[in-house]
Amino acid sequence: MTGAPLATRWVIRVTGAIQLVLGLIILTGRADGLILLHILDGLVFVVALLLMTWFAVRAGVSRGLVAMTVVWALVLPVYGIVQAQLVPGGGHVVIDLVHLLLGLGAIGQGETLARRMARGPVAAARG
Ligand code: HEM
Repeated sequence: MTGAPLATRWVIRVTGAIQLVLGLIILTGRADGLILLHILDGLVFVVALLLMTWFAVRAGVSRGLVAMTVVWALVLPVYGIVQAQLVPGGGHVVIDLVHLLLGLGAIGQGETLARRMARGPVAAARG
């Protein structure tokens, strides 16, 4: 993998790692000032993931996998923004956990697409 897809893979990795670190700090409840930074980095992450789906389609990666990643990439920020209003009180930790898992899943989807692309068009299409 070279050029723009490789650069996009690294943007996903770096912004994803930043999301994880910021999110875990936010989770401690003592860094609400970092939420805006987390949202901005999250938007860069999502745009890079969507860009990766475009490269994946062109490289012949299975449409089902690409479609799942597109839906995932769109659900993550919507969930991230609305989650603060969901289930106030003790049960909110479950809402937080779902967001964390959605985020980790999104990082994984980016890696999966990149790996399928690196295997070449025929193997990528086979999934
Ligand atoms: C790799 C992707 C991501 C990871 C690993 C991640 C992780 C986390 C974690 C661990 C928290 C703290 C616990 C929680 O409130 O759930 C958090 C909070 C938050 N995240 Fe994310 N996140 C990601 C992407 C996003 C995106 C794309 C958005 C929106 C653009 C977003 C918006 C938010 C918001 C608004 C909060 C604060 C919610 C609150 O205070 O209740 N996150 N994130």
